[in-house]
Amino acid sequence: MEPHSPSHESQAVHVPVMVREVLAHLRLAPGMVVVDGTAGAGGHSSEILKAIGPQGRLIGLDRDPMMLAHAAKRVAGENVSLHHASYVKLPAILAELKIDAVDRILLDLGLSSDQLSDRSRGFGFSSDGPLDLRFDISTGQSAADLLAQGSAEQLEEIFREYGEEPLARPLAEYLVKLRSTRPLRTGLDLTTAVSECPSIRRQGPSDKNPATRVFQALRIAVNHELDHVQQGIASSCFQSLKVSGLLAVITFHSLEDRIVKNEFRQKQRWDNLTSKPIVASPQEQRFNPRCRSAKLRVAMKKA
Ligand SMILES: C[S@@+](CC[C@H](N)C(=O)[O-])C[C@H]1O[C@@H](n2cnc3c(N)ncnc32)[C@H](O)[C@@H]1O
Repeated sequence: MEPHSPSHESQAVHVPVMVREVLAHLRLAPGMVVVDGTAGAGGHSSEILKAIGPQGRLIGLDRDPMMLAHAAKRVAGENVSLHHASYVKLPAILAELKIDAVDRILLDLGLSSDQLSDRSRGFGFSSDGPLDLRFDISTGQSAADLLAQGSAEQLEEIFREYGEEPLARPLAEYLVKLRSTRPLRTGLDLTTAVSECPSIRRQGPSDKNPATRVFQALRIAVNHELDHVQQGIASSCFQSLKVSGLLAVITFHSLEDRIVKNEFRQKQRWDNLTSKPIVASPQEQRFNPRCRSAKLRVAMKKA
């Protein structure tokens, strides 16, 4: 892989969540072959690499070339390879590397703080760059195009299904009406439009930005995130693990967590090692607010 340069020169800012818990539950040992399916800024990967040592092998994947460039600064060596791909493509990548199956897989789903703070891609509420929201801008449709072209019914369904937004219908209708006179091109355009929607205004002030669910919904839609999670764990990761190999998944919202929970309940396929999800310690929650919604589930592949 030739990593692209990060769009800004700064170091990665992402703080990996539940590192201690992930390492303990993955039961890593020197010499293991491990996949980090969402390498991000390489925080988990660098700790995994220490635990598996020079005899081990680390394979890192990410859909976002900018994140792989960050990861490449943290994890390097003959026993490391980084790949620009979804974890859905893991079986093909392992075939290329001539690896039959791996000992461990980690998926830390969702968005990295580095993507959120990159103002050129529309992830942040106040971002003035194009409202894109794709992890991989070389494929698919941007959120701005989806908002410009989707019907009110399509947008309503996206806001309801992927954002669990109670005001999905009035919001979709408002945005469709607004876009004919005021295009929604940036993150800030969308945040402002949502805050001006009469149904949102009637709700009054809230702790959360009122556009939170709409941003989540559009991001999930343009990246087809739930399809990747479903196919990724039920097919790609299952197929790529050795018998008795472990899969650990960190989710950040209930839609993802439900998919992982239901898959790990398939008793003929998995031995579910976390009947209740593991959450971050109160101490970690204090210094890294991002981890407050994180849930870690781990399962062992059965014969
Ligand atoms: C929460 S961050 C991971 C952070 C990482 N564990 C670390 O320690 O820096 C999630 C990453 O997953 C990537 N991603 C999202 N969906 C993906 C998919 N289907 N396949 C591969 N990477 C994906 C995102 O681009 C992002 O970099």
